[in-house]
Amino acid sequence: MAPEWARRGIASKLVETAEVGARLVQFRRLELLATLNGVPLYRKNGCQQLEQIDVPMSDGMLVPGVHMEKQIA
Ligand SMILES: CC(C)(COP(=O)(O)OP(=O)(O)OC[C@H]1O[C@@H](n2cnc3c(N)ncnc32)[C@H](O)[C@@H]1OP(=O)(O)O)[C@@H](O)C(=O)NCCC(=O)NCCS
Repeated sequence: MAPEWARRGIASKLVETAEVGARLVQFRRLELLATLNGVPLYRKNGCQQLEQIDVPMSDGMLVPGVHMEKQIA
């Protein structure tokens, strides 16, 4: 993201739009795997942390992630 556009609500709007779409098709829960950079964004938008998961890349490197969820119904 271009620095001048950071912290202006763009990612939150994308999360909100995904949630609206999920509600429209009657999903009751959202689930995602966040990289560590994304965790504050998803927490602020109502997601709870379930567990930490190291995701293996094709070169064997492990990228830390956080499994998160949000009840929407
Ligand atoms: C992380 C990212 C998606 C946030 O996008 P954004 O449009 O700036 O996010 P928002 O303006 O909606 O921020 C919502 C909240 O997220 C949190 N947040 C966002 N960027 C943050 C940062 N750099 N450090 C700490 N908290 C942050 C804050 O709680 C923020 O609310 P606040 O500004 O009122 O404090 C963006 O910086 C990005 O694209 N980063 C690179 C890719 C990446 O890390 N993606 C995560 C994938 S899981």
